[in-house]
Amino acid sequence: MTTAMALENILTEIKNDVLVITINRPDKLNALNKQTIEELHDTLVDAENNKSIRALIITGSGQKAFVAGADIAEFANFSLEEGRQLSAIGHFKIFNFIENYSKPVIAAVNGFALGGGLELAMACHVRIASSNAKMGLPEVSLGVIPGYGGTQRLAQLVGKGKAMEMIVTADMINAEDAYKWGLVNYVTTQEELLAKCFEMTSKIISKSPTAIRTAIKVINAGYNNKLNGYEVEIEEFGKSFNSGDFKEGVSAFLEKRKALFPGN
Ligand code: COA
Repeated sequence: MTTAMALENILTEIKNDVLVITINRPDKLNALNKQTIEELHDTLVDAENNKSIRALIITGSGQKAFVAGADIAEFANFSLEEGRQLSAIGHFKIFNFIENYSKPVIAAVNGFALGGGLELAMACHVRIASSNAKMGLPEVSLGVIPGYGGTQRLAQLVGKGKAMEMIVTADMINAEDAYKWGLVNYVTTQEELLAKCFEMTSKIISKSPTAIRTAIKVINAGYNNKLNGYEVEIEEFGKSFNSGDFKEGVSAFLEKRKALFPGN
């Protein structure tokens, strides 16, 4: 079943239990302005509460860009406090929000992913890029630094040395290098990009939503220096035995049938 609804800067479509979110400002290369951040946040909140949505794909409108960054025109005259707020609100409403989302979020990187655009892709759980994609954190060219988690997540994904190089040179890398460096999981043609994402979501939606939600939480715990990932794993592993999904998953295996997870 396919349903659709439109906001001003965001297009959404539900297909096969997957919500496809398209950032839709193609004449500004899908740059993230305040309104887009708000609309994206509201869309994510709605989707979190919708049990029939099992995974999300985020992509950019048009052939050229995923997202070319935060909207430079909008922050051109910001003060120190406004700059701090821009970063803090972005972390809270989008970037940390997606990283800690209870359903897998895949970035379909279909072109330029620069600055806040690459930071958006890096906040997602998985990145799949088309071969024309170009990725970078060019903020130092503007006299600022990455402010939507880029200094942290890039180093987590590609290692400190490559992250330092990308950030201090402001260089863009192509999809092939991004794949070699571990920044993206797969590279496809532009035409096959969404199909590759759906291939992955078809696997995700056949598994336990409860276990997937817990796995995301525990993997992230290892990157939170206030938590011990191993201890969180022990607790969450134990809790899994109380879930309806566990009972169904094990029964289905023993009865040699396909599991129909209740999602609790
Ligand atoms: N914020 C606001 N507007 C942006 C933007 C951004 N991050 N990125 C692109 N745009 C706008 C351009 O201003 C232009 O608008 P206009 O037609 O009204 O002048 C439009 O998108 C098309 O961009 P343009 O620069 O003409 O395309 P290009 O093919 O020549 O170059 C890029 C593409 C991606 C290399 C170039 O747009 C760019 O460097 N963008 C900024 C990237 C960046 O620094 N991001 C980090 C921000 S913190």
